[in-house]
Amino acid sequence: MTYLLALDQGTSSSRSIVFDREGRVVTMAQREFPQIYPQPGWVEHNPMDLWQTQLATAREALKQAGLRADQIHAVGITNQRETTLVWNRKTGEPVYNAIVWQDRRAENTCAALREQGLSDTVLQKTGLRIDAYFSGTKLKWILDHVPGVRAQAERGELAFGTVDSWLIWQLTGGARHVTDITNASRTMLFNVHTRRWDDEMLTLLGVPASLMPEALPSSAHFGQMGAEWLGAPLEIAGVGGDQQSALFGQACFHAGMAKNTYGTGCFMLMHTGERFQVSQNGLITTATAQPPGKPQYALEGSVFIGGAVVQWLRDGLRAIESSSEVQALAESVPDAGGVVLVPAFTGLGAPYWQPDTRGTITGLTRGTTMAHIARAALESIAFQSAALLDAMSRDAVAAGGVPVSELRVDGGACVNDLLMQFQADLLGIPVVRPAVIETTALGAAYLAGLHTGLYAGLEELSNQWKAERTFHPTLSRERAAEKMAQWEHAVRQTVAA
Ligand code: G3P
Repeated sequence: MTYLLALDQGTSSSRSIVFDREGRVVTMAQREFPQIYPQPGWVEHNPMDLWQTQLATAREALKQAGLRADQIHAVGITNQRETTLVWNRKTGEPVYNAIVWQDRRAENTCAALREQGLSDTVLQKTGLRIDAYFSGTKLKWILDHVPGVRAQAERGELAFGTVDSWLIWQLTGGARHVTDITNASRTMLFNVHTRRWDDEMLTLLGVPASLMPEALPSSAHFGQMGAEWLGAPLEIAGVGGDQQSALFGQACFHAGMAKNTYGTGCFMLMHTGERFQVSQNGLITTATAQPPGKPQYALEGSVFIGGAVVQWLRDGLRAIESSSEVQALAESVPDAGGVVLVPAFTGLGAPYWQPDTRGTITGLTRGTTMAHIARAALESIAFQSAALLDAMSRDAVAAGGVPVSELRVDGGACVNDLLMQFQADLLGIPVVRPAVIETTALGAAYLAGLHTGLYAGLEELSNQWKAERTFHPTLSRERAAEKMAQWEHAVRQTVAA
């Protein structure tokens, strides 16, 4: 048997998964680590926590599988994107905590860039809106605020990286300072056309070029992992930011194919082939994970509060004791009884982009029960995703393509059949859940397997992708449009914080 090991370093936990050649999960190990909130709006991780939990889970996953490292064909890495680290090239010591993608501290820098009229320049080069979400302005914050760091950076003593770079640096004993183009494309410093760090962006943000890692295709030789970690040297041969890795693991290799990951938030990506397309509907453009070749792109949109609304039902409203109870509670009523819940707890993401808005519930009556609210909460995940897919389809059509015809789903909340059925009903297209829903890690494993010759090409991976269940729309388009109109009405009722 041949196995692949995927390291999946996420926002709330590190996970390692052993896959067999057919892409089936053999074992999985997971460890959480502390979230650090130094001030409102700030989110940090201890870089050593990320590395140590990741290593521990890799060891556990191998142990559970009863495998030795020399039975692993290659290693793939996927990771929370945009999270920003800087460390000393000699000592390996981080100069500051990792600034997490959710952190908003760089908003002032972004406002200044927008005021300078740079929005279009940034969009055309990087595919991104100017936003504190991306790494570039977080890196500038570290250079500007951590004592002595800018001088050290100018002397070439420091390295910048997203989480993938940091892990590879550790795994290779400091021998390799590299990233892949999908992670690079989330920094706001990377030109997605030339696939190089962009001198103008580096200058604008005052970032010395010596800090930057080498950006490689996602399926490539990233380095050799030392034998000290798992007992034998292993090749790191695939790297992808988690959402692009999931698109790859879902075998969405061609223009028009789309996936939605239902996690704490939801991330929807639609492949646009070799066409670099700027969205007219509030989405961003990002590099896809792919083997070496001409650059390919995807449109991406995110929902900030997806599965997190279920946590709120559990921890905030105490409507349920555990998240798994939500489906039963929501199903105890035939519908939401006219209740619409907009979980804009941290503003609304694409396609609304209302960072300061706060949530609302409309349609309450004397007859409203917790079950209606639970049902409305679940439906809110589908409504927000439907608004995103609609934006994507409009962009696709505007560029001469066709609307998305099927949505592949993954992530924890995709196991909820009620939610998936409602999603299909709203969208009017099939929603397809694959047999393996660990597609983020699977994508990284596939990228590694491709580079090391385990797979002949993309077609073989497409053939391995299998649907577990397809949810077909059952609602008339008129009824679906009425429901979307109710949702949009409720969105208009939200108020600024
Ligand atoms: O862009 C942020 C995303 O990559 C984080 O994903 O799954 O770690 O929350 P996750």
